[in-house]
Amino acid sequence: MARFESCHEYVLETISAMPEIITLKKITKNYVLGRVVIPALNNISLVIQKNEYVALMGPSGSGKSTLMNIIGCLDTPSSGDYILNGKNVSTLDDNQLAEIRNKEIGFVFQTFNLLPRLTAFENCILPLVYAGIGRKERDKRAMEVLDSVGLADRVKHKPNELSGGQRQRVAIARALINHPSIILADEPTGNLDSKTSAEIMSIFDEIQSRGNTVILVTHEEDIARHARRIIRLRDGLVDLDKVNDAAASHKLQASS
Ligand SMILES: Nc1ncnc2c1ncn2[C@@H]1O[C@H](COP(=O)(O)OP(=O)(O)OP(=O)(O)O)[C@@H](O)[C@H]1O
Ligand SMILES: [Mg+2]
Repeated sequence: MARFESCHEYVLETISAMPEIITLKKITKNYVLGRVVIPALNNISLVIQKNEYVALMGPSGSGKSTLMNIIGCLDTPSSGDYILNGKNVSTLDDNQLAEIRNKEIGFVFQTFNLLPRLTAFENCILPLVYAGIGRKERDKRAMEVLDSVGLADRVKHKPNELSGGQRQRVAIARALINHPSIILADEPTGNLDSKTSAEIMSIFDEIQSRGNTVILVTHEEDIARHARRIIRLRDGLVDLDKVNDAAASHKLQASS
């Protein structure tokens, strides 16, 4: 602790010691609807280091989901370069993007996006089915991740037999099953009450403390408080990019 003048300095030093995992260079995204062009991202440049914990904030329509979709290889930019783990992915085709996504990224959505007819267990193993992983390994990993989110006793339940928080836990388990390095969550607590939101956030905290990079979109200050860095978008531009001193001082105390 003595080595550092402030939490801010501590966090900057800790973060900058890590390799870059996400580098966005002048990313622009325009949606084209007929003859109308809708600008969503306007020349965004950002670097996110391995093991960072980032909250992406900003008003509705500011481009948060668009940016998450590009970072998550669900969509490609109109122009600019996206370097993911040392590889330029901005020019890859859909199949190549799907392959990278499956390997590197775990996605969690506000509305959980579970298949209603499948059990928690079956929802969870879907990414492994797509990746062609054998049954024995699938079953083992599914039990591990469901256990890690506290759902070992709910594996046979279908989504409508689970609470909102439990559904989101299944979605998080599914996002973790391929051991991705990056977890992206777009308003993961948007449909949950505050107590359940806090439980879900403690799972993200733990995922980050195990070495993953976590980026989440939220409108709520209480949720953003968990992250060490807050990036705020406005009209497709980065309006603010700062160390979250509240989370930083917590970490500083824990390590001193
Ligand atoms: N598929 C699409 N086609 C056309 N325009 C789109 C599309 N998706 C988003 N947009 C537009 O791009 C802009 C950014 O949208 P985006 O969904 O990224 O905002 P957001 O910050 O996630 O908002 P919210 O907080 O409401 O989720 C908005 O003006 C939106 O209307
Ligand atoms: Mg959105």
